[in-house]
This record gives sequence, C-alpha cells and structure tokens, in this order.
Amino acid sequence: MQSNNIFVVIFLVKFPVGLMKESPIVLDSQITSGIIKEQIIMQPPFYGFREIALDKSSTGNLRLANDNPIITIPDGQIQGTKEQTIMQTTFYAFRGIPFAKPPVGDLRFAPPKKNDPWIGILNATADRDRCPQINSGTVVGSEDCLHLSVCTPDYKGNFPVMVEIYGGSFETGTSNFNSYRPDYLLAKDVVYVALNYRIGILGFLSTGDMVCPGNNGLKYQILALKWVKKYIKYFGGDPNRVTVFGQSAGGVSIAYLVQSRLAKGLFHRGIMQSGSSLCAAGLTLEAPKRAFEIGELLEIKTTNSSVLVENYRQVKVTDLLSVQTIYTTKFFLSDILTRPLPFGPVQEHHHPEAVFSGNSYEQYLKGDFQRIPLMIGSTSNEAGPLIQSLRRY
Ligand SMILES: *[C@@H]1O[C@H](CO)[C@@H](O)[C@H](O)[C@H]1NC(C)=O
Ligand SMILES: *[C@@H]1O[C@H](CO)[C@@H](O)[C@H](O)[C@H]1NC(C)=O
Repeated sequence: MQSNNIFVVIFLVKFPVGLMKESPIVLDSQITSGIIKEQIIMQPPFYGFREIALDKSSTGNLRLANDNPIITIPDGQIQGTKEQTIMQTTFYAFRGIPFAKPPVGDLRFAPPKKNDPWIGILNATADRDRCPQINSGTVVGSEDCLHLSVCTPDYKGNFPVMVEIYGGSFETGTSNFNSYRPDYLLAKDVVYVALNYRIGILGFLSTGDMVCPGNNGLKYQILALKWVKKYIKYFGGDPNRVTVFGQSAGGVSIAYLVQSRLAKGLFHRGIMQSGSSLCAAGLTLEAPKRAFEIGELLEIKTTNSSVLVENYRQVKVTDLLSVQTIYTTKFFLSDILTRPLPFGPVQEHHHPEAVFSGNSYEQYLKGDFQRIPLMIGSTSNEAGPLIQSLRRY
C-alpha cells in the first residue's frame, strides 16, 4: 500500500491561457507509483506543474506538499488552506469561491446569474472583497463580491452543513473568515459555509415592476444555497442536512427563505437570531418611491423605471453609496422607533421569479411556508451598540 508521500515543485511552464483550455489538468497518471503531476496556481499567463502524491484512499481529492488541499468541483479546481481551530483540531478552509457572475455592467440590479467555470486552480487561500458598503465613513468592498467560503473538518466526510447569512441591517456585513471564525462549529464536525449577498441599494433597489422587481439580495442568497445543494458534497458536506442561520438581517432573510417557493428544498432547518419577516425592520415599504427620490439626488430626472435603472447602472459605486447614506440618515431620524429600512426586502409584485409577494403574516397564517424545524430567538444585548449611538441625540 502506498503511503501519502509528498513531493515538491519540480518545474514551471509558461503557457498561454488559451492552451490550458485544451490541456487536461492531470498530465501524467503514473498512479501505480502513487504520483501524478498536478497544475499549480500561478498568475496567467504562467502555469506550473508539480508532482504530488496521490492519496489512494481518497476519491480523487489531492493534497499538495504544504498540506494545502485541492479539491475539484464541476466549476473547476480550488486550493484552500489547512487551519487549526482554537481547540487545536484541524480543518480546511476554502475562501472566496464565486457562485454568481459579478453583478457589474448590465448585470447590476439584474437578477443573479450563475458564474462560469474557471480554468486552472482557483486561489481560495484568502478572503476576497466584501460587498460595497460604508465602513467608518468610507466605502469599502467591491462589486465583484458574490463569493462564499467553506470550512470543513474533512473533505471526504459526510457532515451536516451550517450556512451563515450575515446581519447588518441589509446595509453592511461580511462573511470574512476572521469576523465569524467557525471554530466551535467545526469542532462539532460540521461543514460551515458563509455566503456574501448584495446589500443596500445595490442589493435591494426596487422599481416595483419587471425592470427591477427587488429582493436581489435575497435572490443571491438563494443562488448560493443552490450552490450548496449541488457542490457541498465535494467538501465533505451532506446536501440533505443543511441548516441556515443568521442574526438580525440574517434572521430576517431566513424567515423570507422559509416563506419562499424559490428556496424550497434548499435547506432543512433554520436558526433565526433576532430577526423575522414580521418585524418592522424586516420590510421596506414604498421602495419604488425611494428609487425615484434617490434618482433625483443623483440628478436622474425621469418617471420611467427603465430609464431610471439604466441611469443607475452608470453611477459610480462610491456615489451610489454616498447618496444612500444621506438618504438613510434622513430616513432613520424621521422614524427612529420603528426604524424601517430604506433598502431591504420588499413585497414584489406577482411574478414567477418573486421571492415573496403579499403580506408575510397572511402567508404564515395560511400555513404557506416550509414546514421545517426552526429555532427562533434573540441575541442577548442585541441593541447595545444602538443605545450607544442614541446618546448623541
Ligand atoms: C493567493 O492569494 C493570496 C491573497 O491575494 C496571495 O497572498 C497568495 O500569494 C496567492 N497564492 C498564489 C499561489 O497565487
Ligand atoms: C420607458 O423607457 C423605455 C426605454 O427608453 C421605453 O422603451 C418605454 O416605452 C418607456 N416606458 C414608458 C411607460 O414610457
């Protein structure tokens, strides 16, 4: 029986990217000797190959000399990192895996689209950008933010999966590794997924018609959950035991996913922490009116939604977010107690791709939702940071 012998980089080859398309990833299959040659990550146009040991007990997953794992999903190959929990158990992290086409150009404010496969090995060893948002007064993040991260104790396992949806008032939030380290979950043999979704005006603009029906942020969450359903098995996760969990806007999102036909069958349990579709902050009213009002602040003067959205597509992200902040501040101060959100989930008009239409409480009363085990609660000291900021007024 071959052991998992480890070999090091032996040569690098310069290849035009186009050529790589036709070249198989595995160059040589001297499997009898336990060695195959594997492409390694380089910046195009350079591609390299190194010899690595084949772990014969594996199902085709390979490990490199430095123990950094490479796995293959239908979109391509992914290299992650080997990490340790604070309890000293080992796990593998794959950060910044795309699940959607970057929502730029014509795709800004459009329903999400699945990403294309990639050539070569995806570098998933570090966090990628968060979605555009204001952080301490400056715009951070990038529009190319539709990525998710997976942490797994063992990518050959069949573990239950927990998918985290971040909170942040549908205006801020990140799935970055160091913000919500999953150490305690991983120690319980769970595969952990953290997804990004678009927020603020970029995720929740709605014109109330087919031009931009709204809820794109939630639609990205649904696309990411479809990814989990299809691909999590390659990371050692069981696609039939998926729990979604999240706090604040994350909890609100989960309530809507439980109500939505579009998310049916994509998860099997939910944990809603301090958020529901029935709370004031969970529903944005009069969204089309806001879309046009903000348009005016951007000097887009029209009553036609196609013209409005077409013009919105030309505005720089920094300008969009500045105007969003001005508007949100005004809005927040005008209704400080119930604090509805200016950009959040909306009741879409009736159409087949709507996440939800009509009143949530009626939908729940009618029993029109997924009957799955749900834990609903609140995070202690939830409003702490808010009380601090209210002292200013
Ligand atoms: C992967 O990306 C990280 C972060 O950008 C970078 O530091 C690292 O060098 C990259 N690794 C390779 C092999 O390109
Ligand atoms: C809105 O503008 C689009 C694009 O210019 C045009 O095709 C459409 O007819 C207009 N709709 C209305 C209701 O005026």
